[in-house]
This record gives sequence, structure tokens and C-alpha cells, in this order.
Amino acid sequence: MAIKAVLRMGDPRLLEVAAPVTSFDTPELHQLVEDLMDTMRAEDGAGLAAPQIGAGLRVVVFGFDKNERYPDAAPVPQTVLINPLVEVLGEACEDDWEGCLSVPGLRGVVSRFTHIRYSGYDPLGKPFEREARQFHARVVQHECDHLDGILYPQRMSDMRRFGFTGVLQPGG
Ligand code: NI
Repeated sequence: MAIKAVLRMGDPRLLEVAAPVTSFDTPELHQLVEDLMDTMRAEDGAGLAAPQIGAGLRVVVFGFDKNERYPDAAPVPQTVLINPLVEVLGEACEDDWEGCLSVPGLRGVVSRFTHIRYSGYDPLGKPFEREARQFHARVVQHECDHLDGILYPQRMSDMRRFGFTGVLQPGG
């Protein structure tokens, strides 16, 4: 078990494009996945991407049964997603509040596609794909953005809907 320090916005490593994983089922990859899971759970995050703990690889983890940071969100399956590909299904987008462990204490409204299909590999190198909607789709888009060096404030269109969690009015 290893809980890693989460890099915070301003660290240039969060702006880099991560490299694809080329070797699966290695001790190093399993260790990285374990560290991501341990850190995500310790911080009560909905998801975490490898660059956030300083590993420049295309690996994300996400999922929860219930999340205190997003009390209204439906459960999202615990997932390790490597070398992800996200395909948008339909044009529909939705505004909603997002936070990020790399942008602690803040929240902002981001528009995301509501219906996607994502594919990629598990740590053993087995391919899989899934369709996702609403919050599940939002989490995947947020985490995959990290692999391209994009933090959610870069996706915001209305900076008036950006602020500190304890200050924003409920339902903002
Ligand atoms: Ni994030």
C-alpha cells in the first residue's frame, strides 16, 4: 500500500502528454495501479490519472459505490483503464460541477459529452470497452484529459462558476 502525493495545478508535469503503456502485466505496472487506487481512495477521489502522481503513462483509475464529494452521483464501476480511447456517441453535452485532486478546494462547471464509448486495456493487457452516460461519462472524460495535459479549468467557459467548495452556494 502506497499513498502518493498528488501533484497540484502549476506543476509542469500535469501539462505533459503521457506516453502509452507498452508492457502489460509487469511488476512496475501493477505497482503503479496499486498506488493510484490507494491514493484515490485515501483522498476520496472519484478518479485519478497516473500523471497526477508523477507517472507519465496513459493509465487512469476511477469508480466508487458512493462518493462524498459527489453525493448525487450514481455508482461508477471500479475501473483501471490503460491507453484509453474515448468515442463520443451523440452531440449532447451537459454542464455540471467538477473538482480535481490536483486543484484542491475548488470546483467549477464544465460542459461534457453525456454519452460516450471508451475502450482500452486492463493491467494484464486484456482489451475491453464500455458505454457510459452522465457522471460516469464525465469522470472518464475528466481523467482522460489528464493524459493529454488538460486540467478541468482549461475546459471551463464561464469563470464565474468557479470557486471554493466551502464558499459556493449549494447548487451554484
Ligand atoms: Ni482531475
